[in-house]
Amino acid sequence: MITVIANLKGGTGKSTVTFNLAIWLQSMGRRVTAIDLDPQQTLADAAALRIEEGVAPALLVEAGAFPDVDFPGDAEEIIIDVGTADLESFKQAIMIADRILVPVTPSQADIWSTQRFVEFLSRNTHGNPPESITFINRADTSRTIHATDEAAAALDALPGLRLIPQRLSNRSVFRDSFSEGLAVFELEPRSIATREFTELAEALYGPGNRSLLARVQKQKISTLVDPAQRLALAAPAEKLAVHGRVSSERLTAAIVAPAAEADPSREQPLKKGKKKGKKRDKTAAKQHSGSKDRPVKAGKKGKKKKKGRKER
Ligand SMILES: Nc1ncnc2c1ncn2[C@@H]1O[C@H](COP(=O)(O)OP(=O)(O)O)[C@@H](O)[C@H]1O
Ligand SMILES: [Mg+2]
Repeated sequence: MITVIANLKGGTGKSTVTFNLAIWLQSMGRRVTAIDLDPQQTLADAAALRIEEGVAPALLVEAGAFPDVDFPGDAEEIIIDVGTADLESFKQAIMIADRILVPVTPSQADIWSTQRFVEFLSRNTHGNPPESITFINRADTSRTIHATDEAAAALDALPGLRLIPQRLSNRSVFRDSFSEGLAVFELEPRSIATREFTELAEALYGPGNRSLLARVQKQKISTLVDPAQRLALAAPAEKLAVHGRVSSERLTAAIVAPAAEADPSREQPLKKGKKKGKKRDKTAAKQHSGSKDRPVKAGKKGKKKKKGRKER
């Protein structure tokens, strides 16, 4: 199944959710390929960082643009992250999607933007959009704030989208785990964030095998402290495949309606990833944009930080 995580608005958690879902699927024993069609390549960066950090299993990410990005034929699940910076690839992804997953953060601006996205979906699929599912991401954790419930009610009232009740709350572990190349359930297996994420993943992909997940979590912890395995995994960047091969017929057959409706603005907060007492910046900057090269981990000796690069 091809699931596209999409929204016209930046900063709603598309890359974060794609990354976590892909690793969750992998932990459930599913053959998954993640595709990063956003030129910002946040997802590819996180996957490269995961390799650099020696976390197993590595996540295979195909990064690029239509029609050149490689879609492996043997994947059970394909999960695609998009961004408005490459609107053509965004539209092509919508055309081949079995379903669209729309994370929405609880604000009026997000509701408006989501409404426009529903119209965009319809226009770019000739009035026949795939199943479109929405959920609230970064929900308020305080019960006294009603913005989240109000946003949910507004989303529920939007035709063309199915709101699912599972929510991800606004929790720093999403940012912290991402900047470690980890999924939330790997960094904090017993947290509320993990419970919420698991509920979302199960709502989307069916119940997970919890004992398998527990084993994967344990295995990951031992991998992190195993220097030999760490070294082996830290090796070449080929695992982060960025192929130039033309993809399947479905992709080339996709018809793209001309439009430039998207709001390309992003709301990527500029924050440094910090860890207890230790100054760490996990931004994985590409040495050469669009190249196969493994991202450089900023702040590391002997490695060069690219100026002006976004930070997670
Ligand atoms: N549930 C969440 N709780 C806290 N922070 C989150 C959550 N989901 C995403 N974020 C943070 O929001 C920011 C934007 O997320 P990102 O996945 O890059 O969005 P997008 O891909 O839609 O632009 C990142 O800093 C990310 O760590
Ligand atoms: Mg993104």
